[in-house]
Amino acid sequence: MKIGNRFVDLPIIQGGMAVSVSTAELSCAVANEGGIGVIGATGLSLEEVKRQLQEARAMTKGILGLNIMVAARNFKDVVYESLRQKVDVIIAGAGFSKDVFGICREWKTPLITMVSSVKVAKLAERLGAAAVIVEGRDAGGHLGTEEKTEDLLPAICEAVSIPVIAAGGFIDGQGISRVMELGAAGVQMGTRFLLSSECTVHDNFKELLMKSKISDLVRILSPVGLPANAIKTPLVEKLLAGDESIRPENCRGCLKRCSGSFCILDALLRARNGDYERGLFFTGSNFPAIKKIMSVKEIIGNLLEEAKSCMAGTTKPSPNS
Ligand SMILES: Cc1cc2nc3c(=O)[nH]c(=O)nc-3n(C[C@H](O)[C@H](O)[C@H](O)COP(=O)(O)O)c2cc1C
Repeated sequence: MKIGNRFVDLPIIQGGMAVSVSTAELSCAVANEGGIGVIGATGLSLEEVKRQLQEARAMTKGILGLNIMVAARNFKDVVYESLRQKVDVIIAGAGFSKDVFGICREWKTPLITMVSSVKVAKLAERLGAAAVIVEGRDAGGHLGTEEKTEDLLPAICEAVSIPVIAAGGFIDGQGISRVMELGAAGVQMGTRFLLSSECTVHDNFKELLMKSKISDLVRILSPVGLPANAIKTPLVEKLLAGDESIRPENCRGCLKRCSGSFCILDALLRARNGDYERGLFFTGSNFPAIKKIMSVKEIIGNLLEEAKSCMAGTTKPSPNS
């Protein structure tokens, strides 16, 4: 996979995960295996973004990215801080900003944008995106579509000539080889890497995903104004019931626009810190297929094995699931 003028040995991007879910430890582990390791910058202060990038840079010579949600109020400040820190690639999620293309062009840093339609993919290419990530309804984090990635992919691959990366529900080599056959240049994976030894979230987060069933997964409407897949926790039940008691008492104004139904920053931070009662636990919908927490090295080793055996037509059961 080629992003800007850099070749990526392993066509795998570890998806940026907000509020300290994907931190320096996880992103370095992925970058050291030849993929793109991504720090999730949403919910971090500029000082924290700087520290995370510096920590990560000290631990890897691989490719490091930074993901920031366009919906975040400090979006542009974070982009500038990460450019000053010489991040290798910027990934803009949850929304679309035309301005960021000009900024990244000026700093000669590749920009990847999340898309869920041919129209937006073509616009991103015209504005100078180095690649696009097509994310369907099975993904963790905020969703821009109700369609499956595999259904969106062929038309988008046909419409643009920049690399198209598939995201949403991929956990094994079979999924990777399937989307590569459909024309994807690579895959972005979030939940599989959240359930790795290097991910620094509280063990309660990982254990909750490991013991939950597909019937525990619900679709919520985030205060950002976008739907998202989350585990049904007491906070989520209150949200679905329209309980006003979860409305924030204080607001830090972290989003450009917020419905105020609850404080997403606090809820994601509580999940990160393992608070089942009051946390919001985002996950991709394929989480029940993951049976084991493994190191990034093992996960990637298995992905390669599986993808190779798929290509050779000798598909084996996935050790990653
Ligand atoms: C806990 C969590 C937090 C996420 N935060 C972000 C984010 O801040 N920005 C973003 O663009 N995507 C975010 N995502 C989406 C991932 O980057 C990735 O695209 C997605 O997880 C892919 O789907 P999968 O989890 O099924 O692999 C998040 C996903 C999860 C599970």
